[in-house]
Amino acid sequence: MKKIKICSLILASVMAISMAACSPSDISIGTRGSEIHVGTVDPANAKGKVGISMPSSTQERWVRDADNLVNSFTDANYATYVAFADYKIDRQIQDIKKLIKEGVDALIISAVDSSSLTEALDEAKQAGIPVICYDRLIMKSDAISYYVSYDNYTVGKMQGIFVRDQLDPAHNPDKIFNVEFVAGDSADSNARPVYNGAYAILSHYIESGQVRIPSGQDTFGESATPQWDTNTAKSRFKNVLGTYYSDGTTLDAVVCANDTTAAGVIQALDSDYKQDNPVLITGQDGDEINLQYINEGKQSMTIFKPGENEAQVTFELTLAVLDGETPNAVFLEDKDWDFEVEFDNYTFSNGSKVVPSYLLSPVLVTKDNMEEMLSKYGQTETENK
Ligand code: BGC
Repeated sequence: MKKIKICSLILASVMAISMAACSPSDISIGTRGSEIHVGTVDPANAKGKVGISMPSSTQERWVRDADNLVNSFTDANYATYVAFADYKIDRQIQDIKKLIKEGVDALIISAVDSSSLTEALDEAKQAGIPVICYDRLIMKSDAISYYVSYDNYTVGKMQGIFVRDQLDPAHNPDKIFNVEFVAGDSADSNARPVYNGAYAILSHYIESGQVRIPSGQDTFGESATPQWDTNTAKSRFKNVLGTYYSDGTTLDAVVCANDTTAAGVIQALDSDYKQDNPVLITGQDGDEINLQYINEGKQSMTIFKPGENEAQVTFELTLAVLDGETPNAVFLEDKDWDFEVEFDNYTFSNGSKVVPSYLLSPVLVTKDNMEEMLSKYGQTETENK
């Protein structure tokens, strides 16, 4: 069996960040809930200062992302300031304001609520601070310089294609399949494209009636999970199982938008699903517990979005912007990255402007290719147990 070793690495590095030497005036390294983690590069001797605002420290991927970004900027002799908003909108606004006051030269932000940062980012714009949206597109702000992410619609399509190909309705025309959707957080601009991508693949069969959604909860709004929270997904799914499956109805697949929601669904199935057929479960991120679920056969797939690559693009893009450049497609030409990135200057309108975007390609991970994918993308260590 594989055991994934990542939490301890993350914790160690976050502790290293938070225990670091420099403590600028307006930023307190204090109790959990108010702290901003200050990096190891002394701002007085740094090339510049970078503020990083992340949505959550309890969801594994954001800690990993902060860690990757801090490592790159630290190696390049930039001082770093990292704040985790723990899904509190006001806290993220305060974090961003503190970072602006601290005089950061650039802000890298992954928003808790895509539409709530307009005023805080106006302050950044007035202070001449470029803002890079990390992973999540910020809406309603013309203060954004760039957006770096994996292609979320493609993530959803990959989930839908996986479910479609496994159930194979086209070659089983006499069978009816029961499927449920568990979407992400409606405040996160990534959640809807993931759901839309998956739904688009299955819609033909939903319309023909060959794929049924017994709960009837088939819109994004009905299946959304605030904060992508495991317990919220779990309690909604326990309800779905109790109401629509307790009569012995067979559930064939749950299209879960990501791994934290998949974890909740798996827990609900463990306790409340009495039928003995295997249920396909999708996911996204390659979180530690979900990789274990995949090895145990409880989860069918995840989508791996190597954070080191996303951080690498963000890091190099930020340096270019700080050098006074205006990166576009040409920026990609001299890169020797071993992963694909596309420049897109027309798709991502945030309601205030079309945000120039760099998009990376997600990777499908199943039990069969997990070891190869993890060693290839090198973000997580595995060891034989
Ligand atoms: C990210 C996903 C993540 C989710 C919850 C989304 O914005 O793209 O990778 O699973 O947030 O943290």
